[in-house]
This record gives sequence, C-alpha cells and structure tokens, in this order.
Amino acid sequence: MARLDVAALPGDGIGPEVTRAALEVLHLVATVGGHELRVTEWPIGWAAIEAGRGPLPDETRDACRAAPAVLVGAVGDPRAGDRPLAERPVTGLLALRRALGCFVNVRPARVSEGHLRFSALRAERARGVDLVFVRELAGGLYYGEPRALDGAEGRAWNTLRYEAEEIERIARFAFETARARRGRLTSVDKANVLETFRLWRATVDRVATDFPDVELEHMLIDRAAMELMVRPAQFDTVLTSNLLGDILSDQAAGVVGSLGLLGSASLGGESDLYEPVHGSAPDLVGTDRANPIGAIASVALMLRHTFDLVEEAALIERAIDAVLAAGHHTADLSSPDGDPTQALGTTALTKRILARVREATPAPA
Ligand code: NAD
Ligand code: IPM
Ligand code: MN
Repeated sequence: MARLDVAALPGDGIGPEVTRAALEVLHLVATVGGHELRVTEWPIGWAAIEAGRGPLPDETRDACRAAPAVLVGAVGDPRAGDRPLAERPVTGLLALRRALGCFVNVRPARVSEGHLRFSALRAERARGVDLVFVRELAGGLYYGEPRALDGAEGRAWNTLRYEAEEIERIARFAFETARARRGRLTSVDKANVLETFRLWRATVDRVATDFPDVELEHMLIDRAAMELMVRPAQFDTVLTSNLLGDILSDQAAGVVGSLGLLGSASLGGESDLYEPVHGSAPDLVGTDRANPIGAIASVALMLRHTFDLVEEAALIERAIDAVLAAGHHTADLSSPDGDPTQALGTTALTKRILARVREATPAPA
C-alpha cells in the first residue's frame, strides 16, 4: 500500500474536464489497490490571472514543490488576447516547469494493432509505431536571453542557447531510456545551419561513448518530420530540444490519431509533472467532447514513474487500449467521412475506461 499525494492543476479550457476524468481513474485504481490517495487542487493559467493572482500563484508553486506528483490539465484562454507574455496563461506552465527544475519531458506515442484505424496514416505505415520523445524542457529557445518584442520598431528577437551541461544531462536520460527499450536513439537537430545544434550534436556524440550498446543516429529536423510520416515505426527513442520536441510530438499525435491521446511526464526536478500533450482546446470547452485519454495516460505515467506502481500503470494502459480496440472513441477520432454521432462524450468514454479497469481487477475475496 502506498500513499499517493497529488497536486492537481486543472487550469483552463478543457483542462478541468480532462483532469476530472483522469482523477476518477486514479481514484479507482488507488481504491482497488488499497492505496491512500490525497488530491489537492490549485489554480494556474487564465483561471489564476482572472483572480488577480498572476499565471502561477506562489501557493500553487509551493504546493507543487511539496507534492511528489503534479497533474496539469491545460492552460490557455483566448481572453488573454495579446497581453504581454508575463501576463499570459502559458507563462504559468513555463514558470512551473522551471521552478520545479523538470528538464526532461517524456512523450510516448504508440499505435497498437487495435487502434490502427484511428491513425492519420494508412495502416501499413502506422503499424508497429512505438516511440518515445525525450524532449529537453528547461532551456533552449523558450527561455534564452536576450528576448524582446519591440512592436513599435517592428522588431523582435529570441535566443536559442544551450550550455553543454544542459545537453549532456538530457542526452544521458535519452540514452538510458533507449537502453531500457529497443536500444535505438535518434537525436534530432538542425546542425547544418545553427551553431547551437553543432554543440548539441558534438555533446550527444560525447555522451554516446558511455553507451556503446545504444545505436545512435543524428537526424535533421526537416527530414525527421518527413520520416515520422512515411516510416514512423523506425523510431524508438527520439531526443529533441525544447521547441523541436514540442512540434514533433504534436505531429506524432496525428500518427497515433489525435492530440487528445498523448500523455507526458516531466521529470528530473523537485517534483514530477504530468501533462497531456494537448492544449486547452477553447473550441471544445463545456461540450463534453474533449478526449480524456491524454490526461488518463498521464496518470498512468505518474503511477509508473513517481509511485513505482508499475502494475497499476499497466492496468490503466490496457484499459485505454481495450476501449479503443472495441471501437469506442470521442469525436476527435471519428474518421472524416464517418458518422460523428457514433462518437462518445468525455463522460461516457471515461465510464468505459473505468468499467474496463473494474473488470480487470479481481473481486475482493
Ligand atoms: P490545442 O491542443 O488546444 O487544440 C488543437 C486542436 O486539437 C483543436 O482543434 C482542439 O479541439 C483539438 N484537441 C486538443 N485537445 C483535444 C482533446 N483532448 N480532445 C479532443 N480534441 C482536442 O492547441 P491550440 O488550439 O493550438 O491552442 C489552444 C490553447 O492551448 C492556446 O492558448 C495554447 O497556448 C494552449 N496550449 C496549452 C498547452 C498546455 O497547457 N500543455 C499545450 C498546447 C497549447
Ligand atoms: C506543450 C505546450 C507548451 C509547450 C506550451 C503551452 C507552453 O505546447 O506542452 O506541448 O510549448 O511546451
Ligand atoms: Mn505543444
């Protein structure tokens, strides 16, 4: 029996809807496993800005530091308009990642045989896709200084900067990840044009000497984007910088079927942060159409990585797989020419997943 302390940050848009679904699944798994679950909720993003607290209130940050695991729904609201970055919802999430020191973002993307039909690709291309992005999360273009927007002068700039140590620590994590999987690592960069990525490549090569059992390949980002469409099953572990991983992981979501399917784990800091890959989807708020699977998959990652509850994590992942394989899905996974009325709402799909978890759990003696 374990004690599961979780800080939940539902955030904006569909964030609260998918967080609620994920917490229901977490609650069920905790109950059947006899674990003690304690969840507290905190504001972030637009919800916090509206309350006059800024995008990341101090009490939210402190609660996240104190809890071993944090679950974020999503941040972002059209009402933020063109406010400066410091007053925007995304700044709350960026500041939180930084405050916790989470420099690793793990984003798995898998197409199992039962959900081939949901892929944006033809079955023969999507078959066998089982990859994981190891995305650098605490540096790069997102945080580089100097940065500024001088609208009056019609000028703006950002800085793509990495220290060798930052590249080395994320590269080590990626090599370890690849070693525990199929032993293949693809490091993505733009070393043919940008100095930062020349350092990236040289540093990854240096780290590689400690991992002779891992097969390393460097790939330029433009080609990687193409390979992900044409031969996605070739990838095992994919190491990327902050921005390139952001982009490629949304693309991989399309390979799996929808942005609503992928979960992620942000690791390496004081607490672990779990976030679905998608955003606040303002177009779906309050319509019961959000796909909760990305958030639910994030909870599975939480059980595995933070709480070492490998069986419980697998139980959730199998339940997701089974429900999709049985053809149940939300509207984002309806085929463009299919009948959208076949799709289930957030609540109904979550119920199917909960039922599946219950079925797979032995009844108490
Ligand atoms: P988005 O991920 O919110 O939505 C992109 C598209 O995917 C939309 O059509 C949306 O309806 C659909 N979609 C996303 N999640 C879905 C789900 N769970 N189920 C079904 N469909 C889903 O990205 P966007 O539209 O580019 O950005 C909207 C806002 O979200 C912006 O403010 C952006 O900054 C923010 N954002 C936040 C996060 C985060 O909090 N982690 C991530 C990405 C974007
Ligand atoms: C993601 C999101 C975030 C990112 C935004 C909301 C800051 O797009 O987690 O993929 O770019 O890291
Ligand atoms: Mn993104």
